[in-house]
Amino acid sequence: MHTRRLICSRLTQKQTLFKLGILTCTLIIFYAYKNSEYAAYHRIQSSDFLELETFDVEEVLDVKANWKRTQHFITKPSYSKNTRRCPASPNKLLGNVSSTRLAEGQSWSQIEAQNQNIVSGGAYVPDECIPRHRVAIIIPLRNRDLHLRVLLAHMHPIWQRQLIEYKVFVITQVDGSAFNRAKLLNVGVAEAKKDGVYDCYVFQDADLLLENDHCLYTCHDANPRHLAMYIDKYSYEALQYRVLCSKYEEAKGAFNALKSVLKDEPVHEPEIPVVKYVGGVAMMTAEQFDSVNGLSNLYWGWGGEDDDLYFRMKAKGFAIDNPYGKNCSYRTIRPEHTAMENGENKARHFFLRYATARMNKEGFNTLRYSLLAYEERPLYTNITVDVGRQSNEMVEYFSRSSQESICSTKMRWDKKWWDSSD
Ligand code: BGC
Repeated sequence: MHTRRLICSRLTQKQTLFKLGILTCTLIIFYAYKNSEYAAYHRIQSSDFLELETFDVEEVLDVKANWKRTQHFITKPSYSKNTRRCPASPNKLLGNVSSTRLAEGQSWSQIEAQNQNIVSGGAYVPDECIPRHRVAIIIPLRNRDLHLRVLLAHMHPIWQRQLIEYKVFVITQVDGSAFNRAKLLNVGVAEAKKDGVYDCYVFQDADLLLENDHCLYTCHDANPRHLAMYIDKYSYEALQYRVLCSKYEEAKGAFNALKSVLKDEPVHEPEIPVVKYVGGVAMMTAEQFDSVNGLSNLYWGWGGEDDDLYFRMKAKGFAIDNPYGKNCSYRTIRPEHTAMENGENKARHFFLRYATARMNKEGFNTLRYSLLAYEERPLYTNITVDVGRQSNEMVEYFSRSSQESICSTKMRWDKKWWDSSD
């Protein structure tokens, strides 16, 4: 009896020790995990914009510091005295245009044979009339040669019928980092600015085919234009959505805090920020682009960069123009590339929260890239660039944090919208 009690008490002691051991280990692991999370968090908090990206290459082009004019643009046809300006509504247009949307299409040489008026580098100037618009068409790309072939086979004839002067710049990102669509668009503008004076920049995704050629690729002086408002993959609906980190409760909390500080002052309840989709195909004049400081460079992977641009546009008081309504629509080339293939950008809601507060300090004026190749191919100019990659701290932080903690992270350069004065 006595021995059994002794054995039992030893067992209980061992069990207690074992439990204590487990508890201590858990605490140590939890502490280490939290510590490294905080280290990453504090590192992120004290970062400057430029520290959020890194480069493996030596020579990085800083757009502000390295402004070289190279002028590649084609010479104009010699118009006679009687040549008129091209009509605002070109009479060659066909209306609805059928297209293949299968990414098998034709070979490059077949497409070239059908587009003999295109000058090397993918440029065109109508010779029967003096064009009203000079348009840089910028296509961000990586590993989508098939899509590009189908797109250019379909679009080159349309752009020519629209009687615009244009050049196609394909901005190819080298492998090795997450895709950064916005940065590639900034690069496209920087390279187009070196090439000549364009009065309109078009941001065109490689997988979208226009369905009606009456939707003109021309900018509007008053407001940025969004052509890809209606796309088959979104059931031809205009998209609107909310930014996750700016959810209503957060806005409401800020509103109440402000109300308690200001006591009797009248305070307007903040609006829940709604984003209107401006992705796919959008266009801006050079002035509009400069006024919003281009696009943010901080969006790596799928999603958010177009929403950030929308906030920039809204902050400058622009409305989003689409004069063609539902008559202007797009089909998606198959096979479709999905968000997941590109890797969803978990950080997007974090950056979107302060898109407007950040816009003057970060964007086209902080763009850095390394130019790897500039090739004038028959149907487009290919510009291959290394745009760097997201800093390790950022990758680490965003891969281990929950959406909730991401949403509550603050950066030293962020200012809350309710106390933002600059
Ligand atoms: C993303 C955008 C995207 C849109 C439509 C949003 O959640 O942030 O980048 O264009 O969804 O797919």
